[in-house]
Amino acid sequence: MDSALDFHGLRALLQWQVELGIDEAIGDVPVNRYETPAAAPKAAAPAVAGTAQAHLAEVPDALDAARRAAEGANDLEALRAALASYEHCELKRGARNLVFADGVPGARLMIIGEAPGREEDREGRPFVGRAGQMLDRMLAAIGMNRKENVYITNVMPWRPPQNADPAPNDIAMMRPFMQRHVELAAPDVVILVGNISCQAALDTRGITKLRGTWTEAWGKPALPMFHPAYLLRNSAAKRAAWADLLEVQARLKGTA
Ligand code: URA
Repeated sequence: MDSALDFHGLRALLQWQVELGIDEAIGDVPVNRYETPAAAPKAAAPAVAGTAQAHLAEVPDALDAARRAAEGANDLEALRAALASYEHCELKRGARNLVFADGVPGARLMIIGEAPGREEDREGRPFVGRAGQMLDRMLAAIGMNRKENVYITNVMPWRPPQNADPAPNDIAMMRPFMQRHVELAAPDVVILVGNISCQAALDTRGITKLRGTWTEAWGKPALPMFHPAYLLRNSAAKRAAWADLLEVQARLKGTA
């Protein structure tokens, strides 16, 4: 056996792939992307540039289509259907499921997360993995839960490959859907968890500075907070998250 492909070589290769963020196999047969095609087409380079340009040219269409689809939805089910038939976002092609929302539509508290991860993609529900369990514990700490009084969604309804941050174009395409989602869910208060939700709602990032200060998102009072996944990695930030949860609780009780 080739020494690079013995047990240790294979294990190192696998480890390397895990470190790159590859966490599932999507084909039965490996594809060698370094292999030169037998007869590479001469015009390969211009064709790639042309594709990129075509993609850029499509962005205004994609935004227009998103606006029309979102505005045409008169209730949350129609909005879910509009997203399901929206074909301009590339992330949709790599996702297993549309992850639309969970919890109680019409609840006074709406949480807007970033994008589905592996478990969410598999189940078609937001915040069901480790970060979701953390979010449930945070909500429980202020006496709330998604079965009774919280509505939860994400900016991106499709899982980005390797859980990468969604591209600005993808976020832009989702803004009209998010705006309509907030209008139709009509919460009293919105929590924006993490940078991607702040980027979508406020057009800015920097959660460490933004968190804890009330702002407005799509016409509703909104509080940016640390993402529960961040809290899982940084226990010290839980203190700030606790203060923010108390702020939300007080706002909902009408005492802040
Ligand atoms: N992180 C998010 O922002 N949303 C999810 O649904 C899961 C993890």
